[in-house]
Amino acid sequence: MYYSDDLIEEIRSRNDIVDVISGYVKLQRKGSSWFGLCPFHNEKSPSFSVSRAKQMYYCFGCGKGGNVFTFLMEYENFTFVEAVRYLAERAGVALPSQEETPEQKRAADLRTKLLEINKTAAKYFYYLLNSSHGASAMEYLSNTRRLSKETIVRFGLGYSDKFSNDLYQYLKKQGWSDELLKESGLVTFDERRGPSDKFWNRVMFPIMDANSRVVGFGGRVMGEGNPKYLNSPETKIFDKSRNLYGLNFARASRRPNFILCEGYLDVISMHQAGFTNAVASLGTAFTSPHASLIKRYTDEVLLAYDSDDAGVRAALRAIPILKEAGLKSKVIHMQPYKDPDEFIQNLGTEAFEERIRQAENSFMFEISVLEKNYDFNDPQGKTDFFSAAAQKLLEFPQELERNNYIEALARKYGIAFKDLQKLVNSYGARVAYSPDERYTAVRTSKTDRPPKDDAVLTSQKLLLTWLVKDTALFEKISPYIGPDDFSEPVYHQTARLLFDEYKTRGTVTPARIISLFEDKDDQAKAAQLFNTTIHEEDPSAHEKAVNDTVIRILKHSLDRRSKQVRDLQELQDIIRQKAALQHLHISL
Ligand code: GTP
Ligand code: MN
Repeated sequence: MYYSDDLIEEIRSRNDIVDVISGYVKLQRKGSSWFGLCPFHNEKSPSFSVSRAKQMYYCFGCGKGGNVFTFLMEYENFTFVEAVRYLAERAGVALPSQEETPEQKRAADLRTKLLEINKTAAKYFYYLLNSSHGASAMEYLSNTRRLSKETIVRFGLGYSDKFSNDLYQYLKKQGWSDELLKESGLVTFDERRGPSDKFWNRVMFPIMDANSRVVGFGGRVMGEGNPKYLNSPETKIFDKSRNLYGLNFARASRRPNFILCEGYLDVISMHQAGFTNAVASLGTAFTSPHASLIKRYTDEVLLAYDSDDAGVRAALRAIPILKEAGLKSKVIHMQPYKDPDEFIQNLGTEAFEERIRQAENSFMFEISVLEKNYDFNDPQGKTDFFSAAAQKLLEFPQELERNNYIEALARKYGIAFKDLQKLVNSYGARVAYSPDERYTAVRTSKTDRPPKDDAVLTSQKLLLTWLVKDTALFEKISPYIGPDDFSEPVYHQTARLLFDEYKTRGTVTPARIISLFEDKDDQAKAAQLFNTTIHEEDPSAHEKAVNDTVIRILKHSLDRRSKQVRDLQELQDIIRQKAALQHLHISL
């Protein structure tokens, strides 16, 4: 984390959450809270609440919650640091400039200059497109590709002129050095012929990063020509595996997933048709850094690759990469059209929505591609196919999930569930002995893995909720229980922060604690703790509940410790403490 906790807390406390959220959601006062329609899920009656006292928001419908930073991270898809900077500026809090080594400063300066050059070039291309020089390019984009004026402006499309060093001359006049222009990738230098523009006589697509800064360009010939597309080389500001075309818009899309396409014009057409969640990897294959980038914004990807063989192959390569990154994926079928652009231009938005609804589970897609390699009329071919499918089913380490897929395949290919399951297990048994660790989960899943102890987690959560609500409880329970007794990572961290704050200040500030988590999911989990409504019980029932809860957490904590004991003394100590739990009684 870049900024000190104190500074972050100052920024948080100077941005009243009700004021900030009012800028996005229409809020109405109801008692001590403000209510509005939740911006994170569709609803007709308001269950989104904002509390000025707690400086937190919480939706009783979808469970999203947090402080003012979390809200901007969710709503604007900011990173934590972006949210901090935004709110610092809003409240007029000066942020310290970071300590940099001379080396870092030089690199940062270079990046700033390259961004400046790219921005200037983008504006120049845009100007040319709208001038008489760009008449045929404009005709191409508007009529041939059917892009609206609005779309052209939104994506900042442009035109590079016919002359061989037109842009070079323009940038030179602005005072940029040859050395920098070379670094920008926009100009190439030849010993004999001197400087020449990388792009000429092409329609230009500025490539923007997630924050809408121009980091490179793609250029397309108008009509036929070779190469059809030309892309900026990688530079100090352009890393192709860490950028996705359209991400600057898709990150703010209200749609629940991302649509992954192959080309610039696919993305642009999709956005024009209202699918503002479309992105594409740029003139390179889809890689795991791309997947991690997507994972920051969504957990599901719909693949909208070309319908030709190359597109199918690209989809088959992308699916395991997405899976590896923890993303769910589905495949959208484009037939009889070649790509999303052609589909949208011919059949329109509604038809594409329908294709989204029909999108195929990516495992089933992989299997249907696999199927084409086998001759089902030949008994041997059919047997071989089921063997291959059975082996592929071992990708699912969890039995329940695996069985669901076995069932789906059995139904699709008319084979008995039991038979296919037996076949899968026969491979499962075989690979269990192989040194390939990827498959050992298959063997262990049935017996070894302990079930997640939900009762313990619930207890940990409940106790924290009580502590926040009634700080007097700290004094009463601290002789018996401490932060380290909380095993779930977010609860453990929250407990540590709560106990610390109570000890030093005698109060707790939930909204402050939330900003100490960097991960949005963790923030939401912590926020939930502070917003759970508790049924008021009669005092004696509550006392019993607190005692039962503390005991359950301690028992689990001691069990955990007993698995890691180093010596006999420690073990005896744990046994003694466990016995003492029987007599533990906290009076409230
Ligand atoms: P249109 O013909 O304009 O609709 O393009 P497309 O997106 O349908 O084309 P295609 O499926 O051929 O290409 C998909 C993407 O691959 C493009 O958007 C480019 O990013 C990239 N690409 C295509 N052709 C070339 C090429 O000749 N060179 C490079 N470097 N990239 C290309
Ligand atoms: Mn196309």
